[in-house]
Amino acid sequence: DKGNYRHFMAKEIHEQPEVIGHTLSRYLDLSKMQTTFTNGTSIDFAPLDRLIISACGTAYYAGLVAKYWFERYARLPVDIDVASEFRYREMPIRKGDMALFISQSGETADTLAGLRYCKSQGIKVAAVVNVPESTIAREADLVFPTIAGREIGVASTKAFTCQLAVLASLAVHAGVQRGHVSADEAAALVRSLAEVPGTVNRALSLEAEVEALAQPLSRARDVLYLGRGTSFPLAMEGALKLKEISYIHAEGYPAGELKHGPIALIDEDVPVIVIAPFDQVFEKTVSNMEEVAARGGKVVLITDEKGAAACGAPTWRTVVVPDVPEFIAPIVFALPVQLLAYHTAVFMGTDVDQPRNLAKSVTVE
Ligand code: F6R
Repeated sequence: DKGNYRHFMAKEIHEQPEVIGHTLSRYLDLSKMQTTFTNGTSIDFAPLDRLIISACGTAYYAGLVAKYWFERYARLPVDIDVASEFRYREMPIRKGDMALFISQSGETADTLAGLRYCKSQGIKVAAVVNVPESTIAREADLVFPTIAGREIGVASTKAFTCQLAVLASLAVHAGVQRGHVSADEAAALVRSLAEVPGTVNRALSLEAEVEALAQPLSRARDVLYLGRGTSFPLAMEGALKLKEISYIHAEGYPAGELKHGPIALIDEDVPVIVIAPFDQVFEKTVSNMEEVAARGGKVVLITDEKGAAACGAPTWRTVVVPDVPEFIAPIVFALPVQLLAYHTAVFMGTDVDQPRNLAKSVTVE
């Protein structure tokens, strides 16, 4: 049931404050301002030398954000690859490794094969899944459910932000267990996670503003998405979402890679969506925006209030998300990125919930 929405995708985008809240309530103890992994989700990151993450598509991008989190907050090295490569790569697995697979459906063939490979190598295998009775959930040693509810739109939205919520909670947990996050720091990180549902709700109020970009974007043949740090996976997610449902060609790139090739594409006809919260690498991204603007590129900057105030580079349009702690920015910035793809596709009249050539669950390789 779509309720009052035109598409399941719109309904699922709007459900995010609620389902992220449900998911977080499973992994955060707000009375103690701690993460809580109990009742079958108990995990010890302290002895690990490495975390291996694998997934496909949007779930892979969630894993890529998590790599930055685990490395930064828990000093835990992360090796990540798309499952279709990972399963055939013959990666040497060592005793101190643990593997984590991420899947909305829990049935993705490549992800499942990667999980089975790791199990055959004798290491512990964990999964973040949205369907608790799925094959991946059944075969994993340890399951961290996302509580997104059934996702019907083929383009994943609420499952992605719920995956990020679980992964962020896990990263804080790992940081504490590995002695790199103090109790006070953990409390601050937990507090910022607890703010996510409210902030995501406020980000939804940008919808009309983002919708106004649909018409100019719909005329583009190619769109580039740029981001650094945790915004780099979001850039790839934005590009994936746009190409899936609007059929406009889009690429997500790490902003710093621009000058190593893709800058050759820039002219007045190529919109460049820059995802840049006011974080440690903000100024670096701004200098890449300047390079785009100098070549006549049309920059759509998605930033926060501090970023909008600090940005000296010329932009064609700016979307201003509420200020949030750097840690949770990827979850909040997912919203304008999803809304931009959604409204562009709606404007173009495509079948948003059932885009051509795509299936919700990819059970063959
Ligand atoms: C993109 C999308 C796909 C899936 C991918 C993995 O919007 O939905 O890229 O993320 O097929 O699917 P799951 O998460 O079910 O393993």
